[in-house]
Amino acid sequence: MITIALTKGRILKDTLPLLSAAGIVPEEDISKSRKLVFATNRSDVQLLVLRGADVLTYIRYGAADMGVVGKDMLMEDGGAQLYELHDLGIARCRLMTATKKDQAGIAYQSRIKVATKYVNIAQRYYAEQGVQADIIKLYGGMELAPIMGLADEIVDIVDTGKTLVANGLEEANFIADISSRLVANKASMKVKHAELKVISDAIAAAVSE
Ligand code: PRP
Repeated sequence: MITIALTKGRILKDTLPLLSAAGIVPEEDISKSRKLVFATNRSDVQLLVLRGADVLTYIRYGAADMGVVGKDMLMEDGGAQLYELHDLGIARCRLMTATKKDQAGIAYQSRIKVATKYVNIAQRYYAEQGVQADIIKLYGGMELAPIMGLADEIVDIVDTGKTLVANGLEEANFIADISSRLVANKASMKVKHAELKVISDAIAAAVSE
């Protein structure tokens, strides 16, 4: 059995056409189901639908052979013991810092507070900038933190920018371009090399088309 872990949400929506082009189609409509594991048209392939951080954990421990995850999750995780096989070019967005409107560009005076779910990325980024930052871990809704005075700025992914605008924030500094990646377990790539390579090549071909 080959197990492929997919990241739920907007990444999933863009992943399914690539999988389909690679000949893998779930047997039921994932978006209409509460299930977490799905059979496919191939009796030897099953799909898991998880949060991005959990996709990496399943792959790392070998509970999934490969999967699709945002580069933001890989950067945060560090990607140790995983192969990053392909950039799928889907779910493109930017990892940014953001502040209350009209505060972007104001020089840092002293230690700042930063709210984010990307604690490791933020720690690295502010250290590189030579900015002293206290990082406050949140699990979502980061955009609220500056408005409520919890933090001076946030680190989050930005796509259309609508969430920032709706919450009175604006982009400040660019950290990285993000897109989804095909990732594999190292042991699986040895033990199931032929099968995984066929799938990985087919997905890469679908990306370039
Ligand atoms: C992400 C991100 C922002 C939003 C940005 O959240 O955390 O809140 O999307 O998109 P925009 O620039 O197009 O407005 P997501 O909707 O993925 O939900 P999450 O907070 O559960 O991660």
